[in-house]
Amino acid sequence: MAKQTLPTAPGPIGVFDSGYGGLTILSKIREVLPQYDFIYLGDNARTPYGTRSYEIVYEFTRQAVSKLFEMGCHLVILACNTASAKALRTIQINDLPRMDAMRRVLGVIRPTVEGIGNVTQSRHVGVLATTGTIFSNSYPLEIHKLFPDIQVSSQACPMWVPLVENNEAHSPGADYFVQQYIESLLNKDSQIDTMILGCTHYPLLLPKIQQYTPEGIHIVSQGEWVAESLKDYLMRHPEMEKKCTKGGRCVYRTTEAEDKFTESATFFLKESIRVERINLEY
Ligand code: DGL
Repeated sequence: MAKQTLPTAPGPIGVFDSGYGGLTILSKIREVLPQYDFIYLGDNARTPYGTRSYEIVYEFTRQAVSKLFEMGCHLVILACNTASAKALRTIQINDLPRMDAMRRVLGVIRPTVEGIGNVTQSRHVGVLATTGTIFSNSYPLEIHKLFPDIQVSSQACPMWVPLVENNEAHSPGADYFVQQYIESLLNKDSQIDTMILGCTHYPLLLPKIQQYTPEGIHIVSQGEWVAESLKDYLMRHPEMEKKCTKGGRCVYRTTEAEDKFTESATFFLKESIRVERINLEY
């Protein structure tokens, strides 16, 4: 990618997701770090990412990061497991040095994995995520880097994102798919005591997920851990913290039609927001 001229003044923290799911992460981040400014960018026109190839997820994510840098962000959080799994490392290693070596892009998988060592007693953990995240093997790889003794079983849940995106998370029709994927995961390993919801949409299905999860199994929603990890990062990196503006503001950008985003974002955030459409294709 050609070198961009990027704004140097401090700016908001960028939060990127393929669609609406990252809003669950954003709200937890804003609870923990209310003083900072944020830009949320949802690539709603091209969602879902979960079924797309490495090349495409990387290309789309790189475009989004580049746009957020142009909009003044020095720090971008990929609030999407699929983008974190398939694009984060390549962007960190190949693109950041060319775009601006002082800017940073962080994902959601590492902070989620860091927390589970203290949660699982049986050392048997299950991961529920999109097909793309599961086939990338990112969760088992990251878990084994930190906790080689933990046994990991995975289950792709291709119907869960569409259920949430189509406002069917609380409908009776959702029960079948929620129950099916949880049973299928637990059939792979009956000793699982910790289940990671490895997709930002899944907290919206939490009431049904809890209903079909046997008692005693800990369900991990990653928002809080990502938020705490970001707080910790900003404390450990004062040079980056200084580049993040503080005003408690949040602006929203989408690649889809504005009214469509507003309607769904209101459902995710439980508050009404204003959004502007932008174009990510270069
Ligand atoms: N937000 C994505 C994730 O966390 C799921 C949605 C998609 O497939 O684009 O993996």
